[in-house]
Amino acid sequence: MSTSIEQRVGAYIEKQGSLDLLRFITCGSVDDGKSTLIGRLLYEARLVFDDQIASLRNDSKKQGVQGSGIDFALLVDGLIAEREQGITIDVAYRFFNTDRRKFIVADTPGHEQYTRNMVTGASTADVAVILIDATQGVLVQTQRHSFITSLLGIKHVVLAINKMDLVDYSQAVFESIVDVYSEYSRHLEFESIMPIPLSATEGDNVIARSSNTTWYSGPTLLEYLETVEVGKSQLQHSFRFPVQWVNRPNADFRGYSGTVVAGVIETGQQIRVLPSGETAKVEEIILSKNSLDKAIVDQAVTITLDTNIDVSRGDVLVLADTPCEVSDQFEASLVWMNQEPGFIGRSYWLLIGTTRVNASITGIKHKVDINSFEKLSADSMQLNDLGEVTLSLDKAVPFEAYKSCKAMGAFVLIDRYSYATVGAGMIKFALRRAENIHRQALLVDRKARENLNGHGGKILWFTGLSGAGKSTVANALEQALHSRGMRTYILDGDNVRHGLNKDLGFTDADRVENIRRISEVAKLMLDAGLVVITSFISPFRSERDMARALFEAGEFLEIYVNIPLAVAEQRDPKGLYKKARRGELPNFTGIDSGYEAPEAPELELATAELSVDDCVAQILKII
Ligand code: ADX
Repeated sequence: MSTSIEQRVGAYIEKQGSLDLLRFITCGSVDDGKSTLIGRLLYEARLVFDDQIASLRNDSKKQGVQGSGIDFALLVDGLIAEREQGITIDVAYRFFNTDRRKFIVADTPGHEQYTRNMVTGASTADVAVILIDATQGVLVQTQRHSFITSLLGIKHVVLAINKMDLVDYSQAVFESIVDVYSEYSRHLEFESIMPIPLSATEGDNVIARSSNTTWYSGPTLLEYLETVEVGKSQLQHSFRFPVQWVNRPNADFRGYSGTVVAGVIETGQQIRVLPSGETAKVEEIILSKNSLDKAIVDQAVTITLDTNIDVSRGDVLVLADTPCEVSDQFEASLVWMNQEPGFIGRSYWLLIGTTRVNASITGIKHKVDINSFEKLSADSMQLNDLGEVTLSLDKAVPFEAYKSCKAMGAFVLIDRYSYATVGAGMIKFALRRAENIHRQALLVDRKARENLNGHGGKILWFTGLSGAGKSTVANALEQALHSRGMRTYILDGDNVRHGLNKDLGFTDADRVENIRRISEVAKLMLDAGLVVITSFISPFRSERDMARALFEAGEFLEIYVNIPLAVAEQRDPKGLYKKARRGELPNFTGIDSGYEAPEAPELELATAELSVDDCVAQILKII
């Protein structure tokens, strides 16, 4: 049916008029003149209304710009509404067109959040305009932007060498920057790089050819953007439709709303719902209040089906005979964007398409040094790190390799507490690892064991500073339970670190892994029907919550053994605080490593004031 695809493409282009669409992003900071450049582009393409120009002139005057000059940065910055709400991701899209083409520029504001915004804005871009300050040359930031641009699969780059007026429009300066960049970008997967000498403030080579750079014979920025040939759109790709919401205004109507991220769908076609795999026929396609015969990529529509099958937000509708894969284990490229490092084993929210699942990094294969392209080993992801990681999700999701469909292969990781976007990733492929491992059904189960024991299992999770009294209370508690005929086991930090966890130290990354393993062991012991007492500092909220999430409500009791640091330090039963104060024990909790107190523990014991017996009595009361 290849002709039908071509017909569809033809119809699409016809529908959009004779103009095609170019999406691009700009990479660079305000200091590089990014805002000024976009402002100039919009202004000179006559896209700014007269009243806006008048008010800009006024603003510019207020800001001390001489004469009738306009500060173009004001134009763009004025249009940007930085809305940092919850987990919404902000990229300002600006639309404009010339006689030859329509443009969407993803403008990615902000300094700190830059990488984050760039990644989200870039996922649909055809071209990246990478700004370089001619007085500065290729900076680490330029390399980072280029690397990410390449990672995001953008094939065409404009090297916008700006502020040429400040280097006297020197051809030598221009060429030496181009040389340095060419050498660097050899390792990246670009199809074309177009260096252009510019001055955004003076307007050289933005729209009109500059008489200051007679040595330059290439296109101006706008000429380039108007004529660059980019690859085909996702129109030829198989149909993909992540369901954004189920539209159910009354009992008679049930439609699925979202945006077509790839391909075409027609009424009457057989679709499949993923991950469930159920099939149905498309009955109606609705755009606003109109019925359509078909919907194509980028259209936001509501689809109704001929049968009532189970479809919910986050599911993906595909053509029944060309489904995508579904998996819960991936290898992916990951960009880390947060001050707080990313740890193997910590749980994050992963947003992909319109769905949200829990996910953790199961391994960091390597990080990449963006200067030398060397592969470095790592046990955590630090701010601005780029790496290859493996991920494990708590639910299987429909996906595609980012290379073949960006919308189906891009994801972000969100911190569950701060809601900050901490990472952005691109799926490379699914790992088959879990596919051939099935749970073995066992004849004697937890219930049977608990019956034999005469009591149910529980997890009593102690947390608190070293020297707070966790082990002391845990010991006394176990004795009390044991004497009542209960089956118990203590997992204690110092003991477990002699065996199972003897490969782990006290870096944040190692503590995360320590607690992850302990949680899993505790889960097995609970299945064995035991009352499990864990006694670990477990300093991070995130891992304590991860442990809690492994169990049913009521099975897991968090007991905060709370003692002021000064008292713990004064007691110092193992002499470790003194050692840490002398600088002989790095990463010591409470000294140079953090402790995040529980916010809502089931029980809090002020061990500085209570006797051991009192503590045990309080615990017995809650279990
Ligand atoms: S945790 O942070 O990963 O939960 P865990 O409870 O296993 O720590 O181990 C803490 C015990 O290890 C402490 O009670 C102490 O005896 C010992 N220890 C040795 N070095 C450190 C350190 N740098 N920080 C904290 N405890 C340490």
